[in-house]
Amino acid sequence: MSDPVKLSARAVAARKGGDKLTMIAAYDYPVARLVEAAGIDLILVGDSLGMTVLGYDSPVPVTLDEVIYHCRAVVRGAPNTHIVADMPFLTYHLDDAQALANAGRLLQEGGADAVKLEGGRGVISDRIRVLVSAGIPVMGHIGLTPQLGGTTGFGTQGEDLDSALALLADAEAVAVAGAYSMVVEAVPAELARVITARVPIPTIGIGAGPDCDGQTVVSTDLLGIESKLFLKFARRYAELGEQIESAFRAYVSETRSGAFPGPDLSPHLDPNVLAALERQLAADPKQP
Ligand code: KIV
Repeated sequence: MSDPVKLSARAVAARKGGDKLTMIAAYDYPVARLVEAAGIDLILVGDSLGMTVLGYDSPVPVTLDEVIYHCRAVVRGAPNTHIVADMPFLTYHLDDAQALANAGRLLQEGGADAVKLEGGRGVISDRIRVLVSAGIPVMGHIGLTPQLGGTTGFGTQGEDLDSALALLADAEAVAVAGAYSMVVEAVPAELARVITARVPIPTIGIGAGPDCDGQTVVSTDLLGIESKLFLKFARRYAELGEQIESAFRAYVSETRSGAFPGPDLSPHLDPNVLAALERQLAADPKQP
């Protein structure tokens, strides 16, 4: 089979209203290889990695260096997939220069094709404009923005008229600023449908109903690695956590019983070398 063709940001934008986009948050080489083999359109090296693979309890401690480190592994595993790197907490808020320098590192050192910023009107759409004018493709992220969870909470966003209108204004600001697509997280399906109809760039939903231009999920949720879902709207397509634990248990049990590694998985001495060794040891029993 021929290698998949990496989508450019323009090609992603051109999927508006067309074939649904698929994106998955992934963080390492082996999973990235499988994601590419499965033909998923985009990989997000999300700051969710703080919770899903680094054991933090929020995205706040995740650093730019950690995202770059994971991004490089993902790029090695999925060289033909469009890769988006999250800009972590407070790495784009201080000023334009900070945002440009840090987004530049994600592309130049991390190997990402685009960066993702959380937020809408005001400072964030201004930052998007600056990054895009420097040639850095930007994916927006509106609705539930986990980096702001400390102030906005982690529940569904846009449930009353005022907050629904505010979210619509955020979506329009992100699109006008030049983003090529945007994540819409934890938003009522009806509102996500309205946003999708009103903005000219693809919306990629997570907990936002079926009418977005694409969907995204977190790989550890889809694979069932943890007993508890990281995002409550996710669907588990496998139960790998159970399978992995049971494989570890089998290894412990076979090692203790001697069934592992067994003769077939052990290197063996040439019989002539063994016989010579035994003769030598018999002649000089003090040798170790
Ligand atoms: O960090 C992440 O994985 C994300 C997705 C939940 C969209 O931002």
